[in-house]
Amino acid sequence: MAMNQMETVRQWLAKADHVVALTGAGISAESGVPIFRGAGGLWQQHRPEDLATPEAFARNPRLVWEWYDWRRARVAAAVPNPAHLALVTLERSSSHFTLITQNVDGLHDRAGSRHVLKLHGDLWQLRCTGCGNESHNTDVPLLELPPRCSCGGILRPAVVWFGEALSGKVLRAASEAAVQSQVFLVIGTSALVQPAASLPLLAGQNGARVVEINRERTALSAHTDISICGAAGELLPQLVAD
Ligand code: OAD
Repeated sequence: MAMNQMETVRQWLAKADHVVALTGAGISAESGVPIFRGAGGLWQQHRPEDLATPEAFARNPRLVWEWYDWRRARVAAAVPNPAHLALVTLERSSSHFTLITQNVDGLHDRAGSRHVLKLHGDLWQLRCTGCGNESHNTDVPLLELPPRCSCGGILRPAVVWFGEALSGKVLRAASEAAVQSQVFLVIGTSALVQPAASLPLLAGQNGARVVEINRERTALSAHTDISICGAAGELLPQLVAD
């Protein structure tokens, strides 16, 4: 199976004017960054409502920051893997390519992807809950928990928590890219969190070939043109190789 499917996807990619890739935590798994759901996933050890909601942060900013500080340290110790690098190659070789990620780890940036639509924000951006100012910060560990803004306000990670809205601008750009794409790759996401999970469906409804790459079948698999089971770090480099 897999060889024929891989060849078909390679041909689709070669012919497409506009390619979109949507990534999830699975693309960073081979870099050693924990995923959320399934065996060993973060949401098996922690309750999202204790750590990833505005209410949790208001209740105990230090506890929430301890968890984010730990995650930042995990990511800082990781390096982009061949799947991240394959998407850099795809960006360079495609006439029009859009990378959309649910990940907050910044590994696409570190791999060298130029334009990344970050649906769920960025672990390395901090936002003041007082004055709203945003700053880039790569300190690991952070010196003070919770960190504070020069205005005295408490800083939070500029990520999207449960119950919060995504940036309208980023979501609009992602939706437009989905509508215009001819090939839509969905890589390493359980496709359970909205609105990200509806982007491949939107692409498919507008004529794109939807291709999934995941270690397991997901809620989306039945709605794709091709669903390839395997590790992103092994499959993606084969898809973009000359
Ligand atoms: P999940 O943890 O829900 O799903 C990770 C997916 O990656 C699973 O379907 C795995 O089968 C797959 N996977 C694991 N290793 C892989 C590998 N090496 N190659 C290919 N696939 C692999 O992560 P997301 O779908 O990204 O939200 O989760 C979506 C959102 O839920 C996250 O952005 C986060 C979380 O709560 C926020 O933080 C707002």
